[in-house]
Amino acid sequence: MPGTGILNLYREFLPVTESTPLITLGEGATPLVRSAQLSKLVECEDLFFKLEGSNPTGSFKDRGMVVAFAKAIEEHSTGAICASTGNTSASAAAYGARFNLPVIVVVPSGGISSSKLAQVRAHQAKIISVRGNFDEALSMVQRIAKEQSITIVNSVNQYRLEGQKTGAFEIIDQLGFSPDYIALPVGNAGNILSYWMGFSEYMHRGLVKSLPKMMGFQAEGASPIVENRPVENPVTIASAIRIGNPVNWEGALTSVKESKGVIEAVTDAEIVDACSKMASLEGIFCELASAASVAGILKLYKAGWNFQGKRVVCIITGSGLKQPDMTEHMRLSNIVEIPATFEALQSAIFESRSE
Ligand code: F0G
Repeated sequence: MPGTGILNLYREFLPVTESTPLITLGEGATPLVRSAQLSKLVECEDLFFKLEGSNPTGSFKDRGMVVAFAKAIEEHSTGAICASTGNTSASAAAYGARFNLPVIVVVPSGGISSSKLAQVRAHQAKIISVRGNFDEALSMVQRIAKEQSITIVNSVNQYRLEGQKTGAFEIIDQLGFSPDYIALPVGNAGNILSYWMGFSEYMHRGLVKSLPKMMGFQAEGASPIVENRPVENPVTIASAIRIGNPVNWEGALTSVKESKGVIEAVTDAEIVDACSKMASLEGIFCELASAASVAGILKLYKAGWNFQGKRVVCIITGSGLKQPDMTEHMRLSNIVEIPATFEALQSAIFESRSE
């Protein structure tokens, strides 16, 4: 039954006890859409997009947040805190508002998009803007959470990872088999680990016969795992993954190693190009960070990878509506302004057609 949420749907796979409230904002059950054009471009048997922007707050974070909040409520927590590049804070703020837990979000000043900030403020979370980057914000938040016993809802919280692994379950439930490759953007590196946990668990329980290779993509100016060293001042247009020292670094490496996958970097130009292609060729408007997964597949294809006979799923982690201010970097159609007359409309249509 759609709308029942992941705690209900996947409770046997989640840390649900008799006293865990099965709360939901309707997260999960997101569409898995077959590619119309890009699959041909990369000569792939089948390419799918898992549209995680269809979650209640517009990103994949809701899968993890609902479990983190359910456990926080079960444990009689008095509040939640997170550092965020935007989506985690939007999700935490929403679940806090709905389930009566005060939320504090700490964000890098100028480092999160206006629409994510609007979400947090609309949900009335306390918002603190730090003149620093995400990594600095997170290390302070970790310390506060420890000293003040406030529940931290970043992906250092194991329940977040548990919830996000349901994305992997859904892909198998929707396809009926495991794809060959999963491509996803990597920031703080929780999601790649969650997906690997999910696939491995289904395999372990005999619910699927094979495992996908995990392909993680970082933005070139914020690619500590690829470079094998923390990046002190990460830079990328994709603010959601502007992270220089991911907390789940080891977990990401394990996922890639165990699955015989890859972790690679894509440039900002490749991300913007992939985002434009998603919008103009597939009808899918996604966040720049989300487009890193698609950019990665395009890059590997150009580098000589053969996807013939392969089935690939790109995790589209967030909606493009999350980052409207970034569309200026993409290829956009022109706006023709006219006076309010029928003749002007007629000639505008005729002229734009003949262009
Ligand atoms: N895609 C989007 C849209 C994100 O918001 C994030 C992370 C990622 C990908 C990367 O996922 O961190 O699990 O590797 N956003 C976090 C935030 C950091 O604060 O919203 P990850």
